[in-house]
Amino acid sequence: MIVGVVGAGTMGAGIAQLALQAGHEVLLNDLDEAAIARGRDRIASGLDRLVAKGRMDADEAGAALVERLRDAHGLDTLAAEADVVIEAALEDLDLKRTIFRALDSAAPASTLLATNTSALSVTEIASSTQRPERVVGLHFFNPAPVMALIEVVQGELTSAATMQAGLEFSGGLGKTAVTCRDAPGFIVNRVNRPFTLEALRMVDAGQATVESIDSAVEAAGYPMGPFRLMDLVGIDVNLAVARALHEAFDQAPRFRPSPRQEELVAAGRLGRKTGSGFYRYGADGPASGEANHPAGGRGPSGEPLAEADIVERIELAIINEAYRAIGEGVCSPEDADIALKLGAAHPHGPFERAGMLGLRTVVEALARLAASGEMDARERFTVAPALWGMATF
Ligand code: 3HC
Repeated sequence: MIVGVVGAGTMGAGIAQLALQAGHEVLLNDLDEAAIARGRDRIASGLDRLVAKGRMDADEAGAALVERLRDAHGLDTLAAEADVVIEAALEDLDLKRTIFRALDSAAPASTLLATNTSALSVTEIASSTQRPERVVGLHFFNPAPVMALIEVVQGELTSAATMQAGLEFSGGLGKTAVTCRDAPGFIVNRVNRPFTLEALRMVDAGQATVESIDSAVEAAGYPMGPFRLMDLVGIDVNLAVARALHEAFDQAPRFRPSPRQEELVAAGRLGRKTGSGFYRYGADGPASGEANHPAGGRGPSGEPLAEADIVERIELAIINEAYRAIGEGVCSPEDADIALKLGAAHPHGPFERAGMLGLRTVVEALARLAASGEMDARERFTVAPALWGMATF
């Protein structure tokens, strides 16, 4: 199969690497030759990692790069040849619509057109083409070569055959696919929003520090605390998703971005990719462990929270958001559990976690937090209607 990848940044390169690993030919496109060359370097170092671990033969990796990875300088040539095109360009609706218009005018009718958008509407992107039924969301997670999930997103006009093609293609990349409706943030970016936003609220309120939250969350079985995760994904990317959800949900306070994120982005401290975010990073990538104050600092006023309370409020808010999402028909509870475990590496899915805690305990704890008098607590922790409906007292 020939896979066209539009955008050779972190996600595009990761997706291209996966397609090469699955034995496909890959056409890689970006704005200019230099951007494509940077993408090639990313793919080469990704394959090198596999070779170093003995998961791929060095000759095979070399051959994949030389024989199966080709530069595509124009969208028309890429679209004319590819069986599947995955767009992984910047999160800008106008840009994505321009790309899809170009793909639509050059691609044969059978080509599967996919977008890796994080938080834009698949339906709106698809509506720039004459074939919205053939456009699907294929949402990968960072780092794409590692995270086992793809959200296959059904735009309003995406056909059942296109969904099936998206599911089969995802399976062929060795990923687990879940399906969801084209609703803001899909599953993971919405349900897991409290993972970072509640953490930021606690720092903003002076209840905890960046380091204390990361260490509490990691001790509870999550591979990365919220601040290390934001540094990995990019604080700009995280902020863009938070902003999109805040707008999509009529500026609901629970989705309001934190001024701390805005300040870091304005200062160009975007996380690992710029060497500095909530933490500082050395040339070889890993966190030095040294937090960047004042972004890392705790505000002066709040009562410090215990580790268990830090984790509890993040988990409760995630469970609550998961109930809101299923109440709105975004996905099934089973797919939400799979998505959070594979797309965000959580130790439990939100419904599994709710079952472990007991729904009555969850509802009572949320009600306690909602009545705490903290900023926006009433909206942040109001029990989701679908959860009220299921808890028995
Ligand atoms: N590229 C390729 N492979 C990588 C990698 C990268 N950038 N980073 C780590 N890996 C590999 C390592 O080589 C290692 O492989 P191995 O198990 O075969 O030896 C494996 O991943 C584990 O890595 P490490 O042992 O170095 O470190 P960790 O155990 O801490 O794992 C992690 C790193 C996989 C990133 C893990 O911390 C994790 O799962 N974190 C959560 C990530 C997450 O939640 N991602 C989703 C973000 S949201 C998103 O992307 C949506 C978007 O729309 C915003």
